[in-house]
Amino acid sequence: MKNNTSSNIQRKDLVTGSCKSGKTTEDYSQICSSKAPSYLEELYKKVYNSELEAVMMITPEEGLLLSTLVSLRAPKVVLELGCFVGYSALWIVEGLEYNKSNPGHLYTIEISKEIADFARKNIENAGKSHFVDVINSPSQPILDSWDRSKKIDIAFLDANKNGYIGYYNSLINNSLLADDGIIVCDNTLFHNRVSPLHKQYNGQAIENPSSNSEHIYNFNLHVAKDNRTEQVLIPIFDGITIIRKKKQN
Ligand SMILES: C[S@@+](CC[C@H](N)C(=O)[O-])C[C@H]1O[C@@H](n2cnc3c(N)ncnc32)[C@H](O)[C@@H]1O
Repeated sequence: MKNNTSSNIQRKDLVTGSCKSGKTTEDYSQICSSKAPSYLEELYKKVYNSELEAVMMITPEEGLLLSTLVSLRAPKVVLELGCFVGYSALWIVEGLEYNKSNPGHLYTIEISKEIADFARKNIENAGKSHFVDVINSPSQPILDSWDRSKKIDIAFLDANKNGYIGYYNSLINNSLLADDGIIVCDNTLFHNRVSPLHKQYNGQAIENPSSNSEHIYNFNLHVAKDNRTEQVLIPIFDGITIIRKKKQN
């Protein structure tokens, strides 16, 4: 597994100004938000105390948002691209469990076999395996071969940032997403490096994007220009965008 120095990055380092100014909006948001269930808190700490790139996990507050969206939508099918250790997957399951009679199923995709095995173990230890299939694969082939009759109610995009446009296009162009489905995308502010690009490139797409922030900038623009969908970018932690198809008149 990766031993990356960026695992030393503090959550706060990713949020504007938070390192400099002491108590911040994010700190206050944490104080006022519900706490994670203890098994999720333990997993979060375990990963932060490991060699893994823990900062890749969503925060507990994003987890709560995700779980709330899932519980409200009561999906049959959820697809997550980018499983990592299974932390966000378990938050999704938290939401699925609200729909007791028909809790729905999560398919979560992870490109690394070693990490996918680790995620499976974490999900098993939490006693939630019956809700989740961890699939060891790159994401795009999964979308390309997706059974089109099995509509996706919620898609959570959190894998490689240079793949977001392709994932979005597959979901929308190939009608894999249910008409009343949503796409939830993580890191759409990407370390606060995306919004400065909007000014720098005057709202035009970057021709040959090379960094994650440039890929996300192009993705945000791509979504904003698509008349078939509407979206809201929520500035929580590293940015979460929620996209839905526009209603038909
Ligand atoms: C940001 S992490 C996901 C974090 C996870 N959603 C969470 O919050 O706990 C991204 C993960 O996507 C995986 N990944 C990278 N490229 C991928 C691809 N093309 N398809 C599927 N997974 C990929 C990485 O190995 C990594 O584990």
